[in-house]
Amino acid sequence: MDSSNLIPKKLLLLGSGELGKELVIEAKRLGLEVIAIDKYQRAPAMQVADHSYVIDMSNKEILSKTIKEINPDFVVPEIEALSIESLKEIEKEGIKIVPNARTVEITMNRDKIRDLASNELKLKTAKFNYVFDSEDLEKKSSSLGFPLLLKPLMSSSGKGQSLVKCKENLLDAWNQALTNSRGKIVGVILEEFIKFDYEFTLLTVRKENGENIFCEPIGHEQYKGDYQCSWQPMKLNQFLIEEAKNMTNQILNNLNGSGIYGVEFFVKDNEVIFSELSPRPHDTGMVTLVSQNINEFELHLRAFLNLPIPKISLLKPSASRVILSNDEFTNPSYTGLNEALQVENTKVLIFGKPTSKKGRRMGVVLSSNDDLNIARQNADKAALNINIIS
Ligand SMILES: Nc1ncnc2c1ncn2[C@@H]1O[C@H](COP(=O)(O)OP(=O)(O)OP(=O)(O)O)[C@@H](O)[C@H]1O
Ligand SMILES: [Mg+2]
Repeated sequence: MDSSNLIPKKLLLLGSGELGKELVIEAKRLGLEVIAIDKYQRAPAMQVADHSYVIDMSNKEILSKTIKEINPDFVVPEIEALSIESLKEIEKEGIKIVPNARTVEITMNRDKIRDLASNELKLKTAKFNYVFDSEDLEKKSSSLGFPLLLKPLMSSSGKGQSLVKCKENLLDAWNQALTNSRGKIVGVILEEFIKFDYEFTLLTVRKENGENIFCEPIGHEQYKGDYQCSWQPMKLNQFLIEEAKNMTNQILNNLNGSGIYGVEFFVKDNEVIFSELSPRPHDTGMVTLVSQNINEFELHLRAFLNLPIPKISLLKPSASRVILSNDEFTNPSYTGLNEALQVENTKVLIFGKPTSKKGRRMGVVLSSNDDLNIARQNADKAALNINIIS
């Protein structure tokens, strides 16, 4: 019997947001049992999982105890805010962490991934310095110049990130970063501000046998470090794509765990600059739900379940546009679905988050068309119709 065809039974998802929800939907299609965890009830992925728990995943004892009780075949982190000490302990006990605990640790710490990419693998990145004491801010910023970006060492979705225009603003940005930082680390990264021409994500799936397969590049736009819209394919010069693939191979051959990776790059003056990566489905990659024959969630599952991944192909040029809330509501309602869904080849995903607040991502619109520009316009047009109300 071919053992690769035996679907293991239990998958434990750590973090139950919108990306987790799509992963659970695909896992349920493959017949897996899924347990979803988050810090609040009725999180998106919990609504489609078999069981769910609300716990503090940054607490080592609580997380380890919960994982051991559930005893899953796979632990799949969907977020970065986890006790890494717990994941390392669990991995030692023989439970599979996707893609592996070392990769989860490196990618949740901006200094660890920079040390690997820039110092060890010598990949081109923005110039940077770490600061662990506010007294060093001025000295450490002098080699980078202004404006610069100041980011907490641990955070995501642009949280705690500031564009600092002059040295007088460093301390405010430092305080802001520490308030929004995850965990107890007192430290930030200062980064040269790259006036890039554009940025893109190279979704890459690494198979159990070490082969890396690339999706078509995804273009995206961010506002204050948070994704607003994305599209696939992003047209790029072939040599830029080859350069990005080459950098990705070097990083993934080092991290070496099967699964999907969202590898983020900037392009400036025909040069590719590595930014960071996620060892899991990427938010800008939600567009693959309509653009690809195998979407990023299925690719993640197939990779770590060691199932076949034949050719990944682009079905049609496609685009996404996020639906953000303007206000704080409990159990919000959504208006404008009638108008939005009249747009051809367009889907609206409402994540079902139980509360909204200003700027929170509550849904996404996906649209496809033979003409990429029309797909982008249609996604935008449909998203404009949707309003979140109390
Ligand atoms: N050095 C830089 N120069 C110019 N822009 C940058 C730089 N670093 C980050 N940005 C901008 O901020 C966005 C978010 O940055 P980054 O990916 O580091 O943050 P994040 O909090 O990890 O976000 P996410 O978790 O959503 O990926 C980038 O996609 C880019 O638009
Ligand atoms: Mg990012």
